[in-house]
Amino acid sequence: MERYAEQTRQQFEGWEEFYSRPIDEKLDAFKQNGRIYDIIFAQQFDRSFLDRMCNLADLIRQLAKTKSGQFKLRHLLPHKRAMLYFVQPSTRTFLSFQNACHILGLSVSEIRGTSTSSEVKGESPEDTILTFASYVNMIISRHHEAGFAEKTAWVLNQTHRPVPVLNGGSGPDQHPTQALLDIYTLEREFSHLGGLDNKKIAMVGDLRRGRTVRSLSYLMKNYSGVELFFVAPEVFRMKSDIKEFLERHRIPYHETEDFESVMPLADAIYMTRIQNEYSEDPSHESETYPAFHFKQQHLSKIQAHCALLHPLPRRYEIEVSVDKDPRAAYWRQERNGMWIRAALIAYIFRVEKEILDEFS
Ligand code: CP
Repeated sequence: MERYAEQTRQQFEGWEEFYSRPIDEKLDAFKQNGRIYDIIFAQQFDRSFLDRMCNLADLIRQLAKTKSGQFKLRHLLPHKRAMLYFVQPSTRTFLSFQNACHILGLSVSEIRGTSTSSEVKGESPEDTILTFASYVNMIISRHHEAGFAEKTAWVLNQTHRPVPVLNGGSGPDQHPTQALLDIYTLEREFSHLGGLDNKKIAMVGDLRRGRTVRSLSYLMKNYSGVELFFVAPEVFRMKSDIKEFLERHRIPYHETEDFESVMPLADAIYMTRIQNEYSEDPSHESETYPAFHFKQQHLSKIQAHCALLHPLPRRYEIEVSVDKDPRAAYWRQERNGMWIRAALIAYIFRVEKEILDEFS
């Protein structure tokens, strides 16, 4: 049987102190020349950046409707290479980033598990990332450890060859590009209703460990008049750091276990699954929490314009028969991820103007 070496743990002077700082004090460390360089936290995105990315994503998807438009997009970044380092399972984030790269002409390399990299011989994750930077112009990572993307970007930014790091999900803490695609989806779903401002959003399920709802909550500070409803079993209530953030930014939120009472009020319902992979108590593993599922019979309880979202993958949270209802936005949401990630990559490599010029 194959024997794997133990992971090497290296010490990086200054890292612990940096990591302990409040996020607002760390944002500049992930900028270059006044622009966002690494995508690590949802808190990096302000309203003008979000509007800019949503608009750019719309233009890219419009261009991609024709063969000549696709040809133009593919010739924007053929001189760039990206590394997809996904050592925690992923379908959507991996494929949407990979296809976003293809749309813009980037070449892509991938590692999808530590058992096929030299980490098996004991190479540290940080040295692994430094190695990628020798070959590619951008690293997109998905990792089971909280703070992984932040640390690797911080380490790389102190080298002679930094490359942008994009956080495709790191442990249970953040998933900033998911939050970006969620905003894009909400803005599109409400495009005939004045966008996301002044909307009531219900977040349902495992709010304690779901990184998507955490990142999305941070972004709500960019929208006026938004009200949040956190609907979760007692054991999976939203953590206090997010609630304190919302209080600081005067964003009203309510907590309840009574899902049905929230259904008629919500403009959007964001369903999430129980994150069993982070389970500390095996007794929670088998429980599917049916009181927090959206069923066919609930369609008559929600508003005519209510958008049903889910970051996916789905387990039992939404009955499959609900998919046919036009308010089921989650498959559109999934596809939106590819366009907004293409917009993000176009921004990082500064080819926005070339895209905008196609419409002038
Ligand atoms: N929403 C999301 O992150 O899906 P994957 O885990 O499949 O990437």
